[in-house]
Amino acid sequence: MSILNDDLSSIDIPIVDLELLQKGDQAQLEALAHSLSHLGLVHIKNHLIEQETLDQFYDSFDRFCRQPTEDKQPLSLDEIWFQRGWTPPDTERAVIAGGQPDFKECYFIAPEPIDAALRAEYPQIFAENVWPRFQEEALFKESYLQVGHRLHEIGIELLGGISRALGLAEHTFAQFVSGGAHVTRALHYLPLDESQVGSEIRWGEEHTDFNLLTLLPGGRFYYDDGAPYTPKGISGLYLRARADREHPQGRRIRGSAPRGCIIAQVGQQLEILTGGKLLATPHEVLPPHEAGVHRTSMAHFIHAHPHQILTPLAQFKSVEATRAYSPPVLAGNYSLKTLVDIGLAPSEELNKLGYRHYRRLEEQRAVKQGD
Ligand SMILES: [Fe+2]
Repeated sequence: MSILNDDLSSIDIPIVDLELLQKGDQAQLEALAHSLSHLGLVHIKNHLIEQETLDQFYDSFDRFCRQPTEDKQPLSLDEIWFQRGWTPPDTERAVIAGGQPDFKECYFIAPEPIDAALRAEYPQIFAENVWPRFQEEALFKESYLQVGHRLHEIGIELLGGISRALGLAEHTFAQFVSGGAHVTRALHYLPLDESQVGSEIRWGEEHTDFNLLTLLPGGRFYYDDGAPYTPKGISGLYLRARADREHPQGRRIRGSAPRGCIIAQVGQQLEILTGGKLLATPHEVLPPHEAGVHRTSMAHFIHAHPHQILTPLAQFKSVEATRAYSPPVLAGNYSLKTLVDIGLAPSEELNKLGYRHYRRLEEQRAVKQGD
């Protein structure tokens, strides 16, 4: 069912003060746990990301996107499943929403240092960064790394608060993600033409994130000439709250954060670890009912270390949780499977998860006696 036909619930998403949270403020801890459990996301203030740095990045990213396709094409790296560099439009697909391609182009980087041993095991999700050659390369790179790094720090600080709010040792989740294939993604949602306005085209089809925690610093809408567009009516980020008896499909809620706040959103890995106590939020990004409007935004995805096993932690391991989240999966392999599902990795990659020695045995048996 399309969200465009639904009544949107007017639920206030709690705003958590990161500074107070770090001091162990009880009200912040309670708001965090309640919101991540029922809505799967929360708004964060006092996060120390300068609006100016974010604006600088969005300006340079917009100019990168305006480069001719033939200049961007060498940065489209299907051999590393687009995990670094440019992802062209129509590449990624949502699994549940009918496999529709999203109406966007993206750029991926890793803002944190990467362990070479993990790159040998998972070359695609731990690939080196690549950077575009254009006039603003230095600004693009510097501002992108700066915002990505700070988003990561915020995520780790929040994971400390989430651990405490759930009665776990403070470093429980931070240790779980240490060394993970964290990735920051800049997104450019493409303008619709007149014939596409009001159609079923989504900027981002409804899905849940497959990582552990996602940080979204808020994007901006603008016309082709760069003039800002003020969203009217339904457009931007919408989420689906946890289903209950009264709302079996889950209430649809506008997710966009107030200016100056960022969004923190639960991903599948955190839902699994908490046995479903926290909710991986289904969300979608809708275009406005107006032609010629662009949107840029950004997301940082924090992942479990690839060797961690995704199964409910002991504190959350009920019979129902075990049944719901079985079988346990190695986090790196969970990423591989999902990247195949959404069309970024080739399906043959799944064969690497099975028994590897068939070919060797076949070759040995094919050797003729006396050779
Ligand atoms: Fe998402």
